[in-house]
Amino acid sequence: MAGIYIHIPFCKKLCFYCDFYHIISSDDNSVFVDTLLKEALLRQDYLGTEAVSTIYFGGGTPSVFSIKELGKILDGINKIFRVEENCEITVELNPDDVNSIYLDGLKKLNIKRISLGIQSWRDSDLKMLNRRHNSVQAAMALKETFNAGFENVTIDLIYGIPGMSVQEWASNLDFTFSFDIKHLSAYHLTFEPGTVFGKMLEKGLISEIEEEESASLFNTLIEKSESAGFIHYEISNFGKPGYFSVHNSNYWKQVNYLGLGPSAHSFNGYSRQWNISDVKGYIKSVNNGKSFFEKEELDIKARFNEYIITSLRTMWGIDLEYIEKTFEKEGYDYVVNLAGKFRDYGLMKQDKKTLVLTNQGKMISDNIISEFMMPGDV
Ligand SMILES: C[S@@+](CC[C@H](N)C(=O)[O-])C[C@H]1O[C@@H](n2cnc3c(N)ncnc32)[C@H](O)[C@@H]1O
Ligand code: SF4
Repeated sequence: MAGIYIHIPFCKKLCFYCDFYHIISSDDNSVFVDTLLKEALLRQDYLGTEAVSTIYFGGGTPSVFSIKELGKILDGINKIFRVEENCEITVELNPDDVNSIYLDGLKKLNIKRISLGIQSWRDSDLKMLNRRHNSVQAAMALKETFNAGFENVTIDLIYGIPGMSVQEWASNLDFTFSFDIKHLSAYHLTFEPGTVFGKMLEKGLISEIEEEESASLFNTLIEKSESAGFIHYEISNFGKPGYFSVHNSNYWKQVNYLGLGPSAHSFNGYSRQWNISDVKGYIKSVNNGKSFFEKEELDIKARFNEYIITSLRTMWGIDLEYIEKTFEKEGYDYVVNLAGKFRDYGLMKQDKKTLVLTNQGKMISDNIISEFMMPGDV
């Protein structure tokens, strides 16, 4: 079991908050597609003999690619790797790229899962974020996705947008759950350095919302999604039973994955590597046999930290048997001792086998995780 992530680093318009690697799209993607497949061929041994159980087209904006282009990539991947028959193939779509012909094309490519970047149902938020679509287009896109026969549909929402009240967020969620979506990813807005919002924050032209308000928004999210039948299986992810993202869950469960395309990350248990964030440089290097990635071998401490960062964000939490088996008694004692104070404050729960964050703990998950980071060697 392994995953393949494919990064399509092109967007038609740049959103003010986003620091995922992307550039403005162009009309001709043929060189990029050929290069991506060349990279796949160069790295065909990365996953060893493992079969590919998930493929994820992320971005950037995969929906700036035509069906023909996406099909060519999938054909190539199928020839190079051993792809399981019922592989979960996800494509991220921007609502204004969606129409019935495009969706039919995706169906024919055997795409199983659609992720729609809706972000908010309020036009004022969408304008502020510099999104391309409005709320009517978003609702249309979602309906057309269902009409095309997709049932495994997830949407992205952002909360903590300045000017959005808790009531407005609650209404956003009510409207979201009026659709038969199976999954929701909801992210608190972050102000990333170098983005338009990051620069505005630096200049004092915009401000982050108060911590208390963030907590109320997060509580509302948990309550509303749980009463709509969703399981909160990762800090930002909610799924109906049977519809958790297999691809993302595998990241959190330390399953190996290969990342193709500029800025894509790969992980094989012992090392992680990331491709350069530069389309031109990537194309040049892949085609001229030059290095196009950086690599970090993970020592035992880095593997421990990696495991904590990923597992503690999920409902499965830290598997104490795994900790003992992999990081021995020192690792086990370190985790259980450190967890004591968080348990006492009601921020973590422990049973024989696992250690998980409570809802209160999830609110300050980043702080708790950073306390678990191991500074020296085990
Ligand atoms: C990189 S985008 C790719 C998806 C697609 N291009 C789109 O915009 O719909 C993945 C998701 O990350 C979230 N995201 C990106 N930057 C964020 C930020 N600074 N704060 C909160 N959410 C963010 C958005 O919800 C977005 O849909
Ligand atoms: S949020 Fe999506 S569409 Fe907007 S800039 Fe980022 S990747 Fe592009």
